[in-house]
Amino acid sequence: MSSSTPTTPSIERTASTIWGGRFDSGPSAVMEAINASIGFDKRLYRQDIAGSKAHCTMLVATGILSKADGEAILGGLDRILAEIEAGDFPFSVALEDIHMNIESRLKDLIGEAAGRLHTARSRNDQVATDFRLWVRDAIDGVEGALARLQDVLITRAEEHADTVMPGFTHLQAAQPVTFGHHLLAYVEMIGRDRGRFHDARVRLNESPLGSAALAGTSFPIDRAMTAQILGFDRPCANSLDGVSDRDFALEFLAAASIASIHLSRLAEELVIWTSAQFGFVRLPDAYSTGSSIMPQKRNPDAAELVRAKAGRVIGDLASLLIVMKGLPLAYSKDMQDDKEPVFEAADTLELCIAAMTGMMETITPKVDRLRAAAGQGFTTATDLADWLVRALGTPFRHAHEVSGALVKMAEKKGVGLEDLSLAEMQTIEPRLTDEAIKVLSVDWSVRSRTSFGGTAPDNVRAACAAARARYAAKAPPR
Ligand code: ARG
Repeated sequence: MSSSTPTTPSIERTASTIWGGRFDSGPSAVMEAINASIGFDKRLYRQDIAGSKAHCTMLVATGILSKADGEAILGGLDRILAEIEAGDFPFSVALEDIHMNIESRLKDLIGEAAGRLHTARSRNDQVATDFRLWVRDAIDGVEGALARLQDVLITRAEEHADTVMPGFTHLQAAQPVTFGHHLLAYVEMIGRDRGRFHDARVRLNESPLGSAALAGTSFPIDRAMTAQILGFDRPCANSLDGVSDRDFALEFLAAASIASIHLSRLAEELVIWTSAQFGFVRLPDAYSTGSSIMPQKRNPDAAELVRAKAGRVIGDLASLLIVMKGLPLAYSKDMQDDKEPVFEAADTLELCIAAMTGMMETITPKVDRLRAAAGQGFTTATDLADWLVRALGTPFRHAHEVSGALVKMAEKKGVGLEDLSLAEMQTIEPRLTDEAIKVLSVDWSVRSRTSFGGTAPDNVRAACAAARARYAAKAPPR
């Protein structure tokens, strides 16, 4: 970042040309360092220019600004946008933030007319507007990326609608499920994540512009016009609220935190599944790393990092909650510290979604290993109990006991339930038949789980089709 430009007063430490009217001298170096936000809020440049252009257009339309000045300002802002995008804009720390950097450059480019742009506006409503626009774009980006991850998960679920695997509770083998069903659980979680971002966007979409410093303005501005130009649904109804709340950023961070938690759970499963002991899936080389000492290692680093980075995002939410807690109305400079947590969370989440999408697209489930594991740990004991209820009318509690006794017998012999002979089983319940033996297979077990939302392969195929339709219909509004 260049710290001196023709208009930069930092070397002489003269007062800011923008607010220095009542100041005799400039800020100390430490003051400048703690005060400046340009190092991070330069990311708002596109939104800042869009906001300024909307404001300028409205000032001309309402007769507050002459057409000639308006045209000069719009032309200058377009040039600044091009300069920044080309990487040759002279950012200056002495000019504090993105708003003053752009305004100062505008003065270099078009002269005194630049000074009229800030009529009926304050940096307080300016930054609130810019930041809302930025978060709105971030929401749209995250929403699209999550939709793409859902798409990949649904495709893999369709492929593996028949692949049996152990389902767990307490990370103990519980009942057989299908791999497709397991993936669809995440499709649902991500669907709700998208819903949370979507809801946040709806509430966010009001324009603070025209709230001015805090009290509104005496100029005959048209707030509905600027709101409309910027794609907001309406202006914020209260100027104090407009400049001083950051709940839209908090909602973004809260939605990002919950989405990160979902990603971290899937990441944790990948870590477990890729271990030699589980051996459920293989991660491709592209998403694995080796060890510098142990030649056999294939580490799931990307999954571990997705798991870890949820911590950062949650930290970002905690950080902004604490910044905002107890702030009196209206604007306080504390609120300048709202941006870094949001930028970090947005970047982190984007990377985590991309990594997870890449991994889920390319993992290879080890179908035979999953099938073998699906039957380990007496996972069809419930099926046997259910058979006793269905075929013999046994009360479930008693059926549970019978099935439990059979598990005990198998465990003692060191075999699976399906390895017991009918004669052996009949020593515990004489009414058991060959039909009862059938329900002990993992395929029979999953095929029987046909209740709505259950794991049966036909259900999973139908659920995939339903998920595609439901989630395609929930595209973000544009
Ligand atoms: N850089 C400031 C921020 O991000 C802009 C608003 C400054 N307003 C003020 N009254 N000093 O919050």
